[in-house]
Amino acid sequence: MRFETIGEAMQSGETMVFGHRGASASAPMNTLAAFQLAYDQGADGIELDTRLSKDGRLFVLHDFTVDATTDGHGCAADMTLSQLKRLDAGSWFSSEFAGEGIPTLDEIFDSFGDALLINVEIKSTRNSIGRMEKALADCIRRHNLRERVIVSSFDPVILKRLSGMMPMVMMGFLYQPETPAEYCLALKSMQCEARHPRHDMVDAGYMNWSRAQGYHVNVWTVNDSRRACALKQLGVNSIITDDPARIVAALAEC
Ligand code: G3P
Ligand code: MG
Repeated sequence: MRFETIGEAMQSGETMVFGHRGASASAPMNTLAAFQLAYDQGADGIELDTRLSKDGRLFVLHDFTVDATTDGHGCAADMTLSQLKRLDAGSWFSSEFAGEGIPTLDEIFDSFGDALLINVEIKSTRNSIGRMEKALADCIRRHNLRERVIVSSFDPVILKRLSGMMPMVMMGFLYQPETPAEYCLALKSMQCEARHPRHDMVDAGYMNWSRAQGYHVNVWTVNDSRRACALKQLGVNSIITDDPARIVAALAEC
């Protein structure tokens, strides 16, 4: 492990590698198998997507529905944790991963909180707003991971509410070219130390601006070695990738 805390990592001047939904090029996204593989491939951290179940438990899943990445159907937030736990989240990817379940955030923190930095992306639905932030703040506190977690979201209102509850936890604002300008303006009134732009928004001008503002820059999703080297040379703090093995190897060479 190269860094003890997110703050230390961001100040180091080095470019970290985060496995996007784990090592999702080689294992089913957002499963324990994918996160273990990211660790095995030498990632500094993992990025994961978290949602709130019908009975108020945080679990790890990208989509609004379970249809694409499990053997079930329907809206994930309408299911209890025990219903979600009955689903197979591995077979869609390969029979080798049959039986992989949807993990809870508690399970991820238990398994990887000491070994990897963790970027928790909040995927919220309207009926989970407020409950979601409280559940996440409680979970981070329970595992004592305030300094090893960075929370990100495309929604500045969620980040603002969470930063009020957990001023010690680093926040990252996710955005892409089509993000409304008023979202960025909403951030001015809150503490949000990191920007998470889609990688093609980043060039020398962007980096000059972000440095002048004092922001850390964590980009997604980069699977191309040459682009990863260019971003390292531009000075980004982290690269979020589906293929940590490839990007760790590429950065070692440039
Ligand atoms: O956190 C970076 C990236 O995961 C954001 O988009 O849709 O892959 O969650 P998405
Ligand atoms: Mg994500």
